[in-house]
Amino acid sequence: MQLYRLAYNSTVTTPLTKADLKQILATSVINNQRAGLTGALCFSRGAFLQILEGDRYPLNATFQKISRDSRHKDVHLIGLAPTQSRLFGNWSMAFVDDTRDTRAIIMKYCGTDRLMFGYMPLDEVVALVQDMLSPKPTALRK
Ligand SMILES: Cc1cc2nc3c(=O)[nH]c(=O)nc-3n(C[C@H](O)[C@H](O)[C@H](O)COP(=O)(O)O)c2cc1C
Repeated sequence: MQLYRLAYNSTVTTPLTKADLKQILATSVINNQRAGLTGALCFSRGAFLQILEGDRYPLNATFQKISRDSRHKDVHLIGLAPTQSRLFGNWSMAFVDDTRDTRAIIMKYCGTDRLMFGYMPLDEVVALVQDMLSPKPTALRK
């Protein structure tokens, strides 16, 4: 098995409802479990950022399938790299929704609250997603 990690971003073709997003996520969880893939899907302001990790053959096949999906367009590969271990091993597909907190994190990394990456390295994009998935620090009680 050759473990790889991949990230891409894309934009929706038509506005998606919560139900549409749930449907995408449900299919992803089932298929990815079967294919031994893990990762995270982020949605913000009509744009997707997805990280996928797994063996390179199912990873490649799934990425090709996703690229052809008419629910989104402008699918841009951000990076693809071999890796020793999974960073999203707990999730067949974690989901990061569009909230004020996630937009603030996107602003920190991208300099805008839109998911735009330019030449941002894969590792930095992974750190952004990990930040969005980590629980918010709670205020200390006196
Ligand atoms: C933004 C986005 C992310 C997706 N992510 C995945 C994924 O991680 N795994 C997957 O199998 N399908 C994913 N899909 C769905 C695929 O494009 C495709 O519809 C699905 O895999 C077909 O599944 P089926 O062959 O079981 O019908 C995604 C679709 C979109 C629009």
